[in-house]
Amino acid sequence: MTTPASPPRYHAGPNPLRDARDRRIPRVAGPCVLVMFGVTGDLARKKLLPAIYDLANRGLLPPGFSLVGFARRNWENEDFAELTYDAVKQHARTPFRDNVWEQVAEGMRFVPGDFSDDAAFDRLCETVSQLDVERGTGGNYAFYLSVPPGSFPAVVGQLKRSGLSDPGPGGPGGRPWRRVVIEKPFGHDLASARELNAMLAAVFPPEAVFRIDHYLGKETVQNILALRFANTLYEPIWNRSYVDHVQITMAEDIGIGGRAGYYDGIGAARDVIQNHLLQLLALTAMEEPLSFEADSLRVEKEKALSAIRLPEDLAAGTARGQYTAGWQGGVEVRGFLEEDGIAPDSKTETYAAIRLGVDTRRWAGVPFFLRTGKRLPRRMTEIALMFQRAPHLPFAKTDTEELGQNALVIRVQPDEGVTVRFGSKVPGSAMEVRDVNMDFAYGESFTESSPEAYERLLLDVLIGDAPLFPRQKEVELSWQVLDPIEEFWAEHMKPEPYPAGSTGPPSADALMAASGRAWRRL
Ligand code: BG6
Repeated sequence: MTTPASPPRYHAGPNPLRDARDRRIPRVAGPCVLVMFGVTGDLARKKLLPAIYDLANRGLLPPGFSLVGFARRNWENEDFAELTYDAVKQHARTPFRDNVWEQVAEGMRFVPGDFSDDAAFDRLCETVSQLDVERGTGGNYAFYLSVPPGSFPAVVGQLKRSGLSDPGPGGPGGRPWRRVVIEKPFGHDLASARELNAMLAAVFPPEAVFRIDHYLGKETVQNILALRFANTLYEPIWNRSYVDHVQITMAEDIGIGGRAGYYDGIGAARDVIQNHLLQLLALTAMEEPLSFEADSLRVEKEKALSAIRLPEDLAAGTARGQYTAGWQGGVEVRGFLEEDGIAPDSKTETYAAIRLGVDTRRWAGVPFFLRTGKRLPRRMTEIALMFQRAPHLPFAKTDTEELGQNALVIRVQPDEGVTVRFGSKVPGSAMEVRDVNMDFAYGESFTESSPEAYERLLLDVLIGDAPLFPRQKEVELSWQVLDPIEEFWAEHMKPEPYPAGSTGPPSADALMAASGRAWRRL
């Protein structure tokens, strides 16, 4: 069966009752409190608060679950509830149900304050203790730091000072517990990542630190494990004997929006290659883990990350771009340097591509090409294994002119699924062979819709299940890959301009062309 590539699909709503009854979905052991710092930020409004509602709607939060918002606003509980209500109405994945909302709203509290204000954290202590009494949350608290990394030390310091980080002597089942959740960026290089870790380690034990890389919460990313290790079909060819090269692409059509403060000085490579793309590479390149327990999985990813080799010539093996004004989707958009809050002489890249090697028996000699960029023609993330050509083609040369390389493409988003591309005879009396696609699309094969990455990750934090959270070693290994590139760029390579809506700077195409290869079409 072959089909042409399919258009994006939109999934029907989930069946909340089904999730609530599904015994395979792990449960949060008991009532607990999620304290969220930075509730007024974009991430909280668009992703975190809606994900909490979605989890409640699916019946996956324990009774007594409570949510405390902390921010520098002169607000009452009701104001926080209103912000959350609006966020849920606008961004929740599952349908709005009054009774679920009332249940969530009952456990919501707000604590106004500044991170430097001891009294505010003392009030936070009182609030969670009260919840323990009123809602039976038993001293089990997760602290979500949805705040700029510059504020991490202040918040973590306050959690220690106020005693909030300390669960006291553990009771049966490791209760009560305290956990801290941080979002990338985990530092901006190896040294700062180590500093951040030392600061956290002084307050929380390693198993209490949950580092979020939201790509690992995506269904399609977890499916890499199912595709590789639940089947016999792919693993025998998943190596240097058959694979010519691997392309990992994360393209975005958006610009930097209102994120100048974060993005300028960080750039595309630190923003997404250091974390999302290297995690995708690790999952693609790693050996089979003994199990999907956190330790087994992390060990294999760490081995893959340790085996990464940089190109000898960083000028030819990397590309760096910055978008200029252009047309995108019929709309005229500004260049990066004209964006609000960006220095007119900024050297920050909005596009990055890198050629990497993975020095293992499985992958020796197979290049992994990573690319990411903003203001590219469309939003698309995929991992493509590009296979070697058949060693011999017993056809007339003209018959295989339209035959490309076989490919296995994991479509991470937005059109989630897997494509296998291979050559097929064109109907007719000539032996003409042309590329066709065989397509698996989530929307067609499953009636369940995929949860948002943050639903899965928030649930795992509350359960205390760690496989989908990178540990410090992975963070450090990823910086070891990126630091030499960043240093080289800072000294020798200014970003090359590319018009918004184009596929990136010419040097990215040259990087591929140097080995007679080309990027997959965006
Ligand atoms: C974030 C980056 O981690 O991922 C953003 O900081 C990027 O720059 C975003 O836009 C993309 O996430 P997704 O899930 O839309 O691919």
